Amino acid sequence: MAAHPLIAPSLLAADFSRLRDEVTAIERAGADWLHLDVMDGHFVPNITFGPLVVRALRPHTRLPLDAHLMIAPADPYVAAFAEAGADHISVHSEAGPHLHRTLQLIRSLGKKAGVVLNPATPIEAVVNVLDLADLIMVMTVNPGFGGQAFLASQLPKISALRRLIDDSGRDIILQVDGGVTHQTVPAILAAGATCLIAGTAVYGAADYAAAIAALRAGGR
Ligand code: DX5
Ligand code: ZN
Repeated sequence: MAAHPLIAPSLLAADFSRLRDEVTAIERAGADWLHLDVMDGHFVPNITFGPLVVRALRPHTRLPLDAHLMIAPADPYVAAFAEAGADHISVHSEAGPHLHRTLQLIRSLGKKAGVVLNPATPIEAVVNVLDLADLIMVMTVNPGFGGQAFLASQLPKISALRRLIDDSGRDIILQVDGGVTHQTVPAILAAGATCLIAGTAVYGAADYAAAIAALRAGGR
């Protein structure tokens, strides 16, 4: 698919004692977006940060902030993330009973809206809300932690979503999150993803710019 996918490094793998420096460094290194993993210790078995951290980082980068909400319920916090400066707000289809309403809410705040599918979640979860989706994110690990092994079982789902998006004629970005490395990227791109989210493969590298360039070049 896309010869030059968007690269969205995940701050989850950064040095949390130096968040501002880590954000400015990744922008200098050529990242397209900054991916922000928000976890609540309830929807996923880990806790990270909330809108206060997003707000604190916002003035220090021009990168679009790609907020991945692993929280349930999500609706009561969407406005706070929007006001904090998130540009994209993505929610899991399981985060609440009214995904359609959540996407409407995100868009009503002028933000791009995304739907995230867990490994066990079928593509049908998004079929009837395609008109409200700007982004669809396929989890290729179970959400909650960085550094996990890529689930190749999700590749057919990425391909199926590629076809669904193409058939819709809508300009929806297809993201892949979890275990994205130079080894797994060729198969991910072949399946049709257009945005690669990578924590360990970028922030765990000695040279952020080289790591980003290698992902963008398709893992070579
Ligand atoms: C996991 C997060 C991912 C995570 C990916 O719940 O959604 O964004 O940072 O980390 P890696 O790239 O290390 O698998
Ligand atoms: Zn994420």
